Amino acid sequence: MPEAIRVVVTGAAGQIAYSLLYSVAKGDVFGKDQPIVLVLLDITPMMGVLGGVVMELKDCAFPVVTEIVATDDYDTAFKDADACMLVGAMPRKEGMERKDLLAANVKIFKGQGESLNKVAKKTVKVVVVGNPANTNALICSKHAPSIPKENFSALTRLDQNRAKAQVADRVGRSVGDVSNAIIWGNHSSTQYPDMRHATVKIDGKAVPVHDAVKDDNWLKNEFISTVQKRGAAVIAARKLSSAMSAANATCDHMRDWWFGTKPGEWTSMAVISDNNPYNVPANLMYSFPVEIKDGKWSIKGGLAIDDFSQEKMDITAKELEEERDAALVVVGDKK
Ligand code: NAD
Ligand code: LMR
Repeated sequence: MPEAIRVVVTGAAGQIAYSLLYSVAKGDVFGKDQPIVLVLLDITPMMGVLGGVVMELKDCAFPVVTEIVATDDYDTAFKDADACMLVGAMPRKEGMERKDLLAANVKIFKGQGESLNKVAKKTVKVVVVGNPANTNALICSKHAPSIPKENFSALTRLDQNRAKAQVADRVGRSVGDVSNAIIWGNHSSTQYPDMRHATVKIDGKAVPVHDAVKDDNWLKNEFISTVQKRGAAVIAARKLSSAMSAANATCDHMRDWWFGTKPGEWTSMAVISDNNPYNVPANLMYSFPVEIKDGKWSIKGGLAIDDFSQEKMDITAKELEEERDAALVVVGDKK
């Protein structure tokens, strides 16, 4: 058996974590042969609830979990961490945009960045889920300068999964037949879900999504807006933000980062935009198509960007610049 890895889940007493912990502890993310020390972080008033989550995890008797640590202390949680899923943050309510959470949430990610900087492994892989996820991830990374920027990311896999599901429904195929959807930019209502390079398997052949859908107007309008607003639609229906699908996407994101993407396929991750091949401004956590090998992502280059796509990519980049500048003020950093 390999040595146990330390996997940290923050917001561990919350909604998303309740699904996420089940999958991680079952071995669905790091593999069924990888022992795990499961580290659960939440705030002090939630320690009682977290105790109940620990009881349930124990009662699941998952063989890969060698130890469970429940704590409200950042340095205890992040000590020697190998993988962190930073979920803990306030969710939005009906009528809010995710960036309205910035003032409440971004300071959490400054503090956690500082702790990661001090005590985590320099190879740690961090995915930020708590909203506004891209900007929180950027702030977290800025406060952990001893860890490579490439080790920080934010979740846009939920948006990618949503985009694939919409297209699969539209063409009457299974979602597993749809490949290479892209989410560009921010996990927000300015994101650009792009199917121009995606394919759907029909009779064993990879057909471009545009040819299969045969409705450019739908792809350019209703499809984009449905994916952009899906989080809000779930909140309106459930009166709570998405949890099962968010947890599932977090697992998909980390599993691909850990084990790699399939040859010829890419996935969407918000990563540092420095030196990207699409002229997106530097110093943003911007979602790109990435290929992953040996635990390292690289942005898939060479995809043709037409005027329609360029305009959408610029809009979401501009929003990320505004969010970053606002966040830097909130945490008291210089622009
Ligand atoms: P929740 O309110 O059910 O749980 C959040 C938990 O985080 C709570 O237990 C809370 O006590 C804890 N927490 C707060 N501050 C913390 C801190 N400093 N350290 C550790 N834990 C802390 O919320 P949820 O539904 O689980 O959502 C969590 C976050 O994920 C929200 O910000 C939500 O908007 C976001 N989200 C993101 C995506 C995405 O795709 N990126 C999808 C769904 C939800
Ligand atoms: C989502 O996309 O479901 C989450 O970001 C929650 C939200 O606020 O929409």
